[in-house]
Amino acid sequence: MRVAICPGSFDPVTVGHLDIIRRASKLFDKVVVAVLLNMDKNNTWFTIGERIDLLKKATKDIPNVEIAGFEGLLVDFAKQKRACAIVKGLRAVSDFEYEFQMALTNSKLDPNVETLFLTTNSENMYLSSSIVKQVGMLGGDIKPFVPECVHDEILSRIKQRSKLR
Ligand code: PNS
Repeated sequence: MRVAICPGSFDPVTVGHLDIIRRASKLFDKVVVAVLLNMDKNNTWFTIGERIDLLKKATKDIPNVEIAGFEGLLVDFAKQKRACAIVKGLRAVSDFEYEFQMALTNSKLDPNVETLFLTTNSENMYLSSSIVKQVGMLGGDIKPFVPECVHDEILSRIKQRSKLR
């Protein structure tokens, strides 16, 4: 059984994330989507529980996907899940340095786990969770950017949040 981890902050899930998860699910027997802590992003808008719920709804039609949260090192989670690979989406050149650094760190921590990059679909090249939050907060249409089944939930959360600012 080939298991892969799709890790990320997912604050919130976008159609770009979903595309990578879907494509990874065709390459592996099982994909575990892991909502992890990114210490460089300590101002998240959605709680881990909310992010997990949104991901569960967005992936409910993909049978070999499991959603989980984890507060430690990604490589420890990978070991716990007996995963052989970490799959990440790679957008533009700007992602490369950061992703390369994480991939090399993870391979130093655990050489048994490979990091694989899937290039994002060209339509999602520009997309990020931060863009979704910014557009939503300023009253723009976020429909093209987030999975349809979780659009309303994400929008109302962003609106709630923007009122607090
Ligand atoms: O969606 P993101 O924010 O680019 O995902 C980054 C994430 C959460 C995968 C990364 O920060 C991570 O792996 N966090 C867990 C802690 C860890 O293992 N850090 C060492 C690897 S650099």
